[in-house]
Amino acid sequence: MKNRLMTAALILLMVIASSCSKEEPGLKDAFEGDFLIGTAVNATQVFGKDEKAQAFIAKQFNSVTPEDAMKWERIHPEPGMYEFTLADSTVAFARKHDMTVIGHCLVWHSQIPGWVFQDSLGNPLTRDALLERMKDHISTVVGHYKGQVKGWDVVNEAVDEDGSLRKTKWLEIIGEDYIEKAFEFAHDADPDAELYYNDYNNEERAKRTGVIALVKKLQDKGIRIDGIGIQGHWHLDSPDFKVVDESISEYAKLGVKVMVTEMEINVLPTPVWLYGAEISKTAEYRDSLNPYVAGLPDSVQNMLTDRYAELFRLLLKHKETISRVTFWGVHDGYSWKNNWPIPGRTNYPLLFDRNYQPKPAYYAVIEQAKKMK
Ligand code: G3I
Repeated sequence: MKNRLMTAALILLMVIASSCSKEEPGLKDAFEGDFLIGTAVNATQVFGKDEKAQAFIAKQFNSVTPEDAMKWERIHPEPGMYEFTLADSTVAFARKHDMTVIGHCLVWHSQIPGWVFQDSLGNPLTRDALLERMKDHISTVVGHYKGQVKGWDVVNEAVDEDGSLRKTKWLEIIGEDYIEKAFEFAHDADPDAELYYNDYNNEERAKRTGVIALVKKLQDKGIRIDGIGIQGHWHLDSPDFKVVDESISEYAKLGVKVMVTEMEINVLPTPVWLYGAEISKTAEYRDSLNPYVAGLPDSVQNMLTDRYAELFRLLLKHKETISRVTFWGVHDGYSWKNNWPIPGRTNYPLLFDRNYQPKPAYYAVIEQAKKMK
């Protein structure tokens, strides 16, 4: 109790001190030498429609992931038609500010047009035809950004909660080796790019076992894989960070980098069956599930602050293994958690509020970085 009061007092003092000082440190500066600090960015920010966004992003973050711009449905909406405008602008913005770019994502079951799996008559593609289509997509997209993207989420969310491979069109038509093929095609297209497997809930034991088996299989076949992304769509009450701790260690034993790639902490009441990030699952809006429209009560703000402090204590403990921590959104107003799994809510899952002001959790996180230098 005494410790918590002292921490709260310390954070309050830092908030007051920083509001008097002209230059607050950027998050990325606080974690210099520990790991990269990234954010997901969207069209509003990249095209400058939000006037404050670009300078703010450049100050706080040193890594950028396009939130949607490189997904198949966006970058390759029709057969033979690639739409690079937003992704190009994202890469140009990041490079202008010396931020690394993470490519997200090449092979995923979601946000992919139906035509990908069909021939021109609407019949299912053969294995060979789908492999050819996958290769064309990967070599075109990765080739387009060769030398500009530090690493790619090559395969996204291919493992189910029980550790088995997710039943997707990729698996159904090509078979289990679609994953290795995707990594091989990506490596051929840009041999210098890092290649990652990315998933949500893969800190949980059963899913983690499946991911470890998948990565070992690639490694046994001599296929390049550089890292595992733990998305980190987390909550105030879940997961138990002990399991995250354990998973980082288990993944590190594979000799790959570990990244937290899409982090936020949901503060709203959410049915447990909607934890994770299975975006095909949703629930209907109810006012009782949207309790903080007028602002976040101090009690919940404190829980969020403590949770972020605990999380960063843990991430810093593993800083030799963790190469990047990316927040899924720049500030609370931009978070996808305002609209998923229940649309139209007011959520507060990030370190900055809707006016770009740092929240107490931001100071708590910076404090952890200082303590653990
Ligand atoms: O931009 C259009 C807008 O023009 C249109 O009027 C509106 C109406 O539907 O849609 C807008 O696009 C939405 C977009 O978010 C921007 O808000 C898309 O419908 C919606 O599908 C999209 O959701 C994204 C979701 O992935 C699906 O692609 C979220 O931004 C994005 O945060 C989320 O990110 C995923 C990761 O890629 C993978 N891991 C899970 C994570 C959360 O689902």
